[in-house]
Amino acid sequence: MLDLKKNFPVLRENPDICFLDSGASAQKPDYVIDFVADFYRKTYANIHRGIYSLSWNSTVLYDKAREKTAEFLGVKNTECVIFTKNTTESINLVAYSFGQKLKEGDEIIVSIMEHHANFVPWQQLAKKKGIKLKIAYIDKNTLEFPVENITSLITDKTKLIALSMCSNVLGTISPFVEVCKTANKKGIKILLDGAQYMPHHRINFTELGIEPDFVVFSGHKLCAFDGVGVLYGKKEVLEDMEPFLTGGDMIESVSIEESIFAPLPNKFEAGTPPIGAVISLLKAIEYLESIGLDKVEEHETMLAKEAIKRLKEIDGVHVFAPEKISNGIVSFTIDGIHPHDIATILAEDNVCIRAGMHCAEPLITYLGQDSFARATFYLYNDMEDVEKLIKSVKRCKEVFKL
Ligand code: ALA
Repeated sequence: MLDLKKNFPVLRENPDICFLDSGASAQKPDYVIDFVADFYRKTYANIHRGIYSLSWNSTVLYDKAREKTAEFLGVKNTECVIFTKNTTESINLVAYSFGQKLKEGDEIIVSIMEHHANFVPWQQLAKKKGIKLKIAYIDKNTLEFPVENITSLITDKTKLIALSMCSNVLGTISPFVEVCKTANKKGIKILLDGAQYMPHHRINFTELGIEPDFVVFSGHKLCAFDGVGVLYGKKEVLEDMEPFLTGGDMIESVSIEESIFAPLPNKFEAGTPPIGAVISLLKAIEYLESIGLDKVEEHETMLAKEAIKRLKEIDGVHVFAPEKISNGIVSFTIDGIHPHDIATILAEDNVCIRAGMHCAEPLITYLGQDSFARATFYLYNDMEDVEKLIKSVKRCKEVFKL
């Protein structure tokens, strides 16, 4: 059992808070905050633009973050790791730049369990260019995602599969390994949205023997600061794409007539990047690796399983999770109480959860619901948090006299 609350100042400063909203954004440990605060206090300068030692130091740390991120993903080409603002921007970059290569009649496959970030950009691109957007459905009863539900949609017109590795609502893990293998074999491009997967599972794409064309995730959900996202792309694919943003730092030379773009990764990193946030990602990955991603997964899964078991024992409570769970996501409803009311009553007890559509309206609608209450456990939660959640859910029913 991990015992890590002591490493997280927000949790230390607010011992009464039961923080169960890491699916939205994770708390940051001292290890990350202190390093970045020191960087801003003692050695901050912009990257790339100076040969003086402060700038050099920033550049070295920034480059180290890129190397660490490549190692974290188990990919070889460090220059293929692009820093963006967040997962949403990473996906929009691909939709804008790779999207230029798609034409009327082409097909894109997404799943019903996508976050809006991996749905709306493809929906809009499809509308603009006359591309067919095909939806792969999860099993409504088991909430599992059989691989055939996606592979059966593939035709010779399929140009891209954009697939979440883990649902932010259900915790369902998609069959991304098998789908990626199929896509690689057929020469179909595949984008994996790892926003809810990367912070909770050890991954190594080289060891898995799969070559996703694009992988995206955010730093803030894995204990780094907000403001940094990652786009990893296959080298030949990224090299063949137009830049998303143009301006400083992404060019090799500029004349009045034309510009020659810089090679990867700079081509996709126009302007001053979020330097402190990128460095926080380096420290957050170091922190998570010092704990061990396998241990993180085991710990939060154990807490989620206990919470699910206890929630199911309460009359009128329905949990929406697949049988096999491997993360800390627990979505639920209570008969007769709207999830927003659940979240409000839980907030009175200092239990922090998220309620609503969770930026996954197509999924919620498909499941015949209009909203879920969602508790998410992470490495710093403990059994006491499970107890507080259950106690507060029981109080909800008392308040509503159910
Ligand atoms: N995507 C984040 C969530 O699931 C914000 O809550």
